[in-house]
Amino acid sequence: MNEWLWGLGGVAVGVVLVHGLGYLTALARWFKRRCSCLGATFTLTPAETTALIAMLNRALADEWFAFYQYWIGAHVVAGSLAMSVIAELREHAEQEFEHAGLLVERIKQLGGTPLLDPAEWAIVSNCGYLAPRDYDSKPVLEQNVQGEICAISSYTSLLEFLNGRHAVTAGDVTFILAQEEEHKRDLQGLLTKLGK
Ligand SMILES: [Fe+2]
Ligand SMILES: [Fe+2]
Repeated sequence: MNEWLWGLGGVAVGVVLVHGLGYLTALARWFKRRCSCLGATFTLTPAETTALIAMLNRALADEWFAFYQYWIGAHVVAGSLAMSVIAELREHAEQEFEHAGLLVERIKQLGGTPLLDPAEWAIVSNCGYLAPRDYDSKPVLEQNVQGEICAISSYTSLLEFLNGRHAVTAGDVTFILAQEEEHKRDLQGLLTKLGK
């Protein structure tokens, strides 16, 4: 009887071990599919990578427009607080230029091709371009606030798309988003100083 019980117990332990190993193997396969590099970087499917590259290229077009809008704005703006506005627009232009560089490196690392022709910017841009027709400080600042609101929205969408995956890209997008939010606050601060 004892031998029979021991045999039954051995079979039960074997079944548990085999199933346990099966579950562990399935879990390891799932983890390998989802992660690389010690689990620090979540991967994307090929289709998701293609979609991400397209989103990054749209953001790249936005950055070039933002850069030029700030850069030309700094050259033409006039009126109240003009010197402070010029200094702020120049600083923002430099940072938009840096954002464009970060995005190009991300796109290349993901195996994509960054936009090569300025003619493509208007076609793919999320935010478009608002030419500063009225050079007074207030309308120039307000146009740039609009641009920042759009940029914040598009980078927020990018982070939602990533949903914690691809840590390097998520890190760069988070960094850019924080600067766009700071830009918006700076511009709104100047508008407040203008008393408008
Ligand atoms: Fe930017
Ligand atoms: Fe910005």
